[in-house]
Amino acid sequence: MSAILEIKNLDKHFGGIHVTNHLNIVFQKGEMSAIIGPNGAGKTTFFNLITGLIPPDEGTVIYEGQDITRARPEHIVKLGMVRAFQVASVFLDETVYDNIYLASLSHFHKNAKIFIDRMAFKDAKEHTEFILKKIGLWHCKDMKASELSHGDMKVLDIAIALTLQPKILLLDEPTAGMAPNERIKMMGLLKELHEFFKLSTIFIEHDMDMVFGIAQIIRVLVQGQLIAEGTPDYIREHEAVIEAYLGKEVL
Ligand SMILES: Nc1ncnc2c1ncn2[C@@H]1O[C@H](COP(=O)(O)OP(=O)(O)OP(=O)(O)O)[C@@H](O)[C@H]1O
Ligand SMILES: [Mg+2]
Repeated sequence: MSAILEIKNLDKHFGGIHVTNHLNIVFQKGEMSAIIGPNGAGKTTFFNLITGLIPPDEGTVIYEGQDITRARPEHIVKLGMVRAFQVASVFLDETVYDNIYLASLSHFHKNAKIFIDRMAFKDAKEHTEFILKKIGLWHCKDMKASELSHGDMKVLDIAIALTLQPKILLLDEPTAGMAPNERIKMMGLLKELHEFFKLSTIFIEHDMDMVFGIAQIIRVLVQGQLIAEGTPDYIREHEAVIEAYLGKEVL
């Protein structure tokens, strides 16, 4: 295993609140990892910091050995760290097919060489079909995005992120608002995509069945601090984690 993302001494305040408190984390290539913690712990802010949406007060973000701390979000996406945008990137009036096609086309034009080298697709159409089949949305490719169920909308959002051929896929609460059966489907899908595309996946999640079901490493944030990291078995029995977040129900 080798590191794909190294966070060094990352720090951020919002007014008087210390939202990110001197974080040091190394994410390994190919790792399926979860970030958990109470509301307001700074999980989403962490994603905002590493994807270039907001600048840190202090610290460094190293991606594949390269300092990307103050790089622009588009540049970070182009390097291969891609976040599913929780539906913000979906064109509601377009079909499911066209949503993926438009994203593929735009990626194809911007990164023609990378696109061909990495996956050897002839064109954006071929790539669109591949993604739709892989992610299980082929049967509803002609539906308008606005007609999708909440769960399928989230899947479409992840499909758009995959279209950008990520190496690291970041997901902020992929099962939020989903019915139990949709959650189970999402859990299976993320595991499958992680393995098939050889991704490094980092997901923030409050659903502990999902976290303990698929994460290889769990990191726990409380008030901006990393209070524990380790395997599901380690985290499940970690005193401070139980006290601060898990309570007794996961035991
Ligand atoms: N742009 C901002 N300006 C000021 N305060 C902010 C900003 N973004 C987040 N915060 C504050 O920072 C803290 C951490 O917020 P963040 O959204 O990162 O938490 P979270 O762990 O993702 O919580 P949740 O589980 O509820 O999504 C909160 O107190 C929030 O109000
Ligand atoms: Mg959040």
